[in-house]
Amino acid sequence: MRRFTHRERLQKHLLCFLPTFFTNDMLNELVYCSVATRVMDADDLRELLDHARSKNSSLGVTGTLLYNDQTREFIQLLEGDSETLDMLMEKISSDERHTSIDIMYRGRIETRSFEGWSMAYRAFADIAPPLREGITSFRPDDSPEDQGWSRASRARTIFTDLSKKM
Ligand SMILES: Cc1cc2nc3c(=O)[nH]c(=O)nc-3n(C[C@H](O)[C@H](O)[C@H](O)COP(=O)(O)O)c2cc1C
Repeated sequence: MRRFTHRERLQKHLLCFLPTFFTNDMLNELVYCSVATRVMDADDLRELLDHARSKNSSLGVTGTLLYNDQTREFIQLLEGDSETLDMLMEKISSDERHTSIDIMYRGRIETRSFEGWSMAYRAFADIAPPLREGITSFRPDDSPEDQGWSRASRARTIFTDLSKKM
C-alpha cells in the first residue's frame, strides 16, 4: 500500500479540521422567555411545534421549548448558526401568539445540548422539582436576582438537566 507523504497527511488533517473550526466559531445558543397572548391548548402547541420543527430542520436549528400553562410563559433555548438565530429571532419576536419577549442570554457554544432535536417540547411541570422550586416566573420583574443566582443561570441549569434526559 502506498504511504502518504507528509504534505498529503497535513492536507487531510486540515480538510477535516477546518470546517469544524469555522462552523463551531459561529455556533450560538440563545434563551429567551415570553408570555403567550392567550392560553395555549394542546392543538395550539402542536401546530406551533409542527411548523417550528419543519423550519428548524431546514435551518439547522435545534433546541427545546418549555411552556408553563399556569403563567402562560414560554422559555425557549435555540441552538444554531449565529446569523440564522438573528433571522429566526426576528420572526419569533413579531409572532402575535406571544409578547414581552426577553432574551436572557446568548453565547457561543462548542457543541449542541439538543443535537438531533429540531425542537423538543417540555411542560414546566416536567422540570425536576428541586430545579423549579421557588420559581414562579422567569419574567425580569417577577424573579429578583437576589436569590443567589440569576434567571439566566437558573434557565441554563434547567436546560442542562433536561438535555441529559433526552
Ligand atoms: C413561543 C414560540 C416559539 C417559536 N419557535 C419557533 C422555532 O423554533 N422555529 C421557527 O421556525 N418558528 C418558531 N416560531 C414561529 C415563528 O414565530 C414564526 O411563526 C415562523 O418562523 C414563521 O415562519 P414562516 O413565515 O417562514 O413560515 C415560534 C413561535 C412562538 C410563539
